[in-house]
Amino acid sequence: MAVEKTFVMVKPDGVQRGLIGEVLGRFERKGLKLVAAKLMSVPQSLAEQHYAEHRERPFFGELVSFITSSPVFAMVLEGENAISVARTLMGKTNPAESAPGTIRGDYGLTIGMNIVHGSDSPESAAREIELWFSEGTVSYDKAVDVWLA
Ligand code: RTP
Ligand code: MG
Repeated sequence: MAVEKTFVMVKPDGVQRGLIGEVLGRFERKGLKLVAAKLMSVPQSLAEQHYAEHRERPFFGELVSFITSSPVFAMVLEGENAISVARTLMGKTNPAESAPGTIRGDYGLTIGMNIVHGSDSPESAAREIELWFSEGTVSYDKAVDVWLA
């Protein structure tokens, strides 16, 4: 089993609706470990780099203006298969099609405001973690963790 890190972000709609704790709590209770986090405004250039793969799509402008419109809560989560596990907890991209029990399925209604972002592959995770957390992530002292085992 591979221990992975993944980049996850509560988008402006989730922050404004007071869902940071709810979203983070779901990942924590699943067993993923928080190894970096910050509440921040997103510079235009960071938003454009983050969503570079969608540059040619018709919704690119909307996406960038949405993500820069008000603060986001950016984080890095770590655990076994963290990348796909986080995506499973998030649900499908379009909240209208996301299963109940998932974050988007429980809290979202429209594709443009789907509450949360999560890296979609190991390559994306590495790229996004470097982009958002060039300062690095924390590592827990195993001697502390052992009390929770
Ligand atoms: P995300 O990158 O935000 O985690 O979402 P995702 O992988 O599930 O979906 P992706 O295909 O990467 O799309 C990125 C975000 O763009 C918005 N979107 N709008 N109007 C549209 O047809 C449309 N399609 C995608 C969504 O907010 C999606 O999360
Ligand atoms: Mg994506």
